[in-house]
Amino acid sequence: MSELVRFGISMERDLLARLDQEIVKHGYPNRSEAIRDLVRAQLVELEWSQEDEEVAGTVTIIYNHHVRGLSDMLLELQHEHHEMIISVMHVHLEHDHCLEVMVIKGKASEARDLAGKLIGVKGVKHGKLTITSTGKRLN
Ligand code: NI
Repeated sequence: MSELVRFGISMERDLLARLDQEIVKHGYPNRSEAIRDLVRAQLVELEWSQEDEEVAGTVTIIYNHHVRGLSDMLLELQHEHHEMIISVMHVHLEHDHCLEVMVIKGKASEARDLAGKLIGVKGVKHGKLTITSTGKRLN
């Protein structure tokens, strides 16, 4: 961890009141920790907005494994992108439905494309990309 630096922030009273409400809601110990998290969240968004930046994330999908060809199609896509998909967890949710969580890492533009492909496969009922960071550029 790098050295902590203190600095003052000027903010409209109403905006500060909103921040304090969120701090209570999320259980932050103090304003500093809340503001650090906000800055990190923004930095992660920026990483994902830069095409060549290396990012990490998860793609979660649910699908009915009885749909003909669907499991094969998803498996094929995962093998095609094995260099980006670093882990897969498959859960047999109930009789018909499976949930898969794939941890992905790679260039932002490619990670976004891959998530779109996986979520867009016909028969995938719901999918979501969770955007996070490799952590290298976050303190
Ligand atoms: Ni399953």
